[in-house]
Amino acid sequence: MTIYNFGSINADLFYHLPHLPAPGETLAARGHERGLGGKGANQSVAAARAGSRTVHIGAVGPDGGWAIERLARFGVETQAIKRSKEPTGHAIINVDADGENTIVIWPGANRGQSRDHVRDTLSKARPGDYLMLQNETDCLAEAAELGQIHGLRVIFSAAPFDVASALDVLPFTDVLLVNEIEMEQLSAALSKPISAIPVPAILVTKGAHGADYHDQATGEVIRVAALPVAPVDTTGAGDTFAGYFVAGLDQGMDVRSAMEQAAAAAACKVTRKGTADAIPTRDELTQFLKAFA
Ligand code: RIB
Repeated sequence: MTIYNFGSINADLFYHLPHLPAPGETLAARGHERGLGGKGANQSVAAARAGSRTVHIGAVGPDGGWAIERLARFGVETQAIKRSKEPTGHAIINVDADGENTIVIWPGANRGQSRDHVRDTLSKARPGDYLMLQNETDCLAEAAELGQIHGLRVIFSAAPFDVASALDVLPFTDVLLVNEIEMEQLSAALSKPISAIPVPAILVTKGAHGADYHDQATGEVIRVAALPVAPVDTTGAGDTFAGYFVAGLDQGMDVRSAMEQAAAAAACKVTRKGTADAIPTRDELTQFLKAFA
């Protein structure tokens, strides 16, 4: 099957700092790198590196040829990435000595996507394919609805969290992906416990505490633990989890096996600096896991 991913593409500008800056504080970075990122691009790279056919739908600016080339090099199909007049989106990512981060994004070409472009691309999809979405592009609800109309399984990462867009996309969503903070924000916005959120399944990632999959119809909760690692950079760990998880489902794994594979990939990612460029291939993941055998 195929994973379609309608998502952001960013240049990630990393600054390695002794601690995250306080308001009014000026800090000199100890290191700086530029790489490929964006929650969308990261999830596409993870799904492709996990071995699934992955078609990215999105946009870059006139300055974005390098991003398309890099996505292609990582195995992502790029024919549905448009060239916009807006500059390519970027993110300023501060990473502290414990690998924690703060991120500011400039959306650029990630905003101004067209429903027609998404519709044309998804017209080639088949029932049972997957559509991944994150909250860094516009036209999200339209894309999710198109996905549902074409019989795709819609997987929505509600990050960065925004109540209005989460509520717009939820009616077309099969699996909602959130971290613990986003889950609390959604519960508070709807004044409902997780069990009453109207979506077939919710996958809550909990960083070093693993992840929980809530099947809303049966009430079953599938829990997986995280692997114990010393993080150097947690940026993109959730995206790595999402891409590997959906690739696992796409390749016929059950939910628990897909989550275990995803948790392993995310653990491997946090031991490396960077985002899309640091997501492990399946072979690298096999090597990484030998240390835990
Ligand atoms: O989830 C990490 C991503 O968030 C980064 O790659 C950055 O571009 C922002 O989109």
